[in-house]
Amino acid sequence: GTTLGASAAEKGRYFGTAVAAYKLSDATYVGILNREFNMVTPENEMKWDATEPSQNQFNYTNADRIVSHAQANGMRVRGHALAWHSQQPGWAQNLSGTALRQAMVNHITRVATHYKGKIYAWDVVNEAFADSGGVRRDSNLQRTGDDWIEVAFRTARAADPGAKLCYNDYNTDNWTWAKTQAVYNMVRDFKARGVPIDCVGLQSHFNSGSPYPGNYRTTLENFAALGVDVQITELDIEGSGTTQATTYGNVVKDCLAVSRCTGITVWGIRDSDSWRASGTPLLFDGNGNKKPAYTAVLDAL
Ligand code: XIL
Repeated sequence: GTTLGASAAEKGRYFGTAVAAYKLSDATYVGILNREFNMVTPENEMKWDATEPSQNQFNYTNADRIVSHAQANGMRVRGHALAWHSQQPGWAQNLSGTALRQAMVNHITRVATHYKGKIYAWDVVNEAFADSGGVRRDSNLQRTGDDWIEVAFRTARAADPGAKLCYNDYNTDNWTWAKTQAVYNMVRDFKARGVPIDCVGLQSHFNSGSPYPGNYRTTLENFAALGVDVQITELDIEGSGTTQATTYGNVVKDCLAVSRCTGITVWGIRDSDSWRASGTPLLFDGNGNKKPAYTAVLDAL
């Protein structure tokens, strides 16, 4: 293939990007999006603060714009994210206990129902573990009880039985890291007890503090061996030039080597679209030109 999406499709995979609704009026941005990608993840528009700014008052305007654009252009959608300690509306941040638990369940039910049948995979729970390996103690959702993660997955399954349900996190790329082991143990436990989970998302934001690990393929293989798909959900790689390109190529080769690695999403299109305040972590430069990293990805696909 001559584009990322078409080449990935030839291998039975997708190639996606995070999309910001307000950029859908940028012709350069949309030109690259429509040409190269066949999966999109709303970068912020499906988060709790965006979709339920006041309790029980839902606003899908910006998320719907992205979903409509995707459907009109033959792209699928990864939903991101139903339950997360971050980017919550103020009213939810001020809740605790049973009230917060019920608000979470209501939020998941309403959002997943609104998008029922339109979402390939949901990041049902995002970033619930600490780098040290245990559950994240600074999450208000965790303080509603240890079962909140499985309650979130069961709620999402009931609302949209057709969507794949993913657990998504960062610093879960290196097989030897405590957080990777903690997420692995949770998924193994969920599979053993019949808690609905279909996929694990590795955000894979690679930088000097969290570099691409030599055992990345092992991590993908080990999660897949639990009976879930694995997806690379927010890929970006600090650096530039040949070094960055080589790492991008290696990530793609690792995914293709694991049959249950179903696709790769980069977290933005141009370097200027990146959430990173500085750096050049993406596949296109600020003018929308293909970087060496782009060519390395296309060659690896
Ligand atoms: C980021 C967005 O890219 C930014 O625009 C926003 O200000 C903060 O969130 N992990 C995730 C994503 O799961 O939702 C985050 O996205 C990046 C880290």
